[in-house]
Amino acid sequence: MSFIQKVRHCLAGSRASNIIRLLEQYQKKHGDFTLVETGSIRNTSVRYQKDDGHSTKHICEFVKRNPGCTFYSVDLETGTCDAYLKTKGLREYVHLVQGNSLDVLPTLDFDIAYLDSDNDSELILKEFMIAKNKARLIIVDDVDPTDASLKKGIEVTKYLDSNHLPYILLPRQLVFWNDGQAI
Ligand SMILES: C[S@@+](CC[C@H](N)C(=O)[O-])C[C@H]1O[C@@H](n2cnc3c(N)ncnc32)[C@H](O)[C@@H]1O
Repeated sequence: MSFIQKVRHCLAGSRASNIIRLLEQYQKKHGDFTLVETGSIRNTSVRYQKDDGHSTKHICEFVKRNPGCTFYSVDLETGTCDAYLKTKGLREYVHLVQGNSLDVLPTLDFDIAYLDSDNDSELILKEFMIAKNKARLIIVDDVDPTDASLKKGIEVTKYLDSNHLPYILLPRQLVFWNDGQAI
């Protein structure tokens, strides 16, 4: 069993709980932070709540509990997410930015990036290359070298591997610490 497989098996859990655990660990070490997410809630059906994970909602709940943190979520179309968060009483905990992630990311300052936009590994690599000059922690959704249907992180893992940069894999997630620390 490879190192990655061992880690994946050890850290089984939902995506939302993984992200929130990472945010809690980051905050404990570095204090309040600014996070930017690419890809906001796009559909409110139960299927999408489960399959996409509804990270925007879970991160809003984290910010509600930790009001010193700031949260931006970027999407080509933010209307669905806007309306949904209003129904949940969470709209005030995120700055929704409508636009292309590649245009918006360079305009923001942030400590953590959560990359969850298109299932397009070239786009995610471009987002990553912008984020790596700004963020200390980058989380990429849908990274699993053993599952060909999870494409988002393919080019990012190639880049990290070829540059000998550290990262860990959690179930369907990849995490890269700019300061070289593992968790
Ligand atoms: C997988 S969904 C995001 C799911 C959301 N994070 C959740 O957990 O519910 C992907 C979203 O990325 C958006 N998207 C795709 N390409 C984008 C781009 N270049 N810039 C910004 N958003 C993009 C899509 O409109 C879609 O809403």
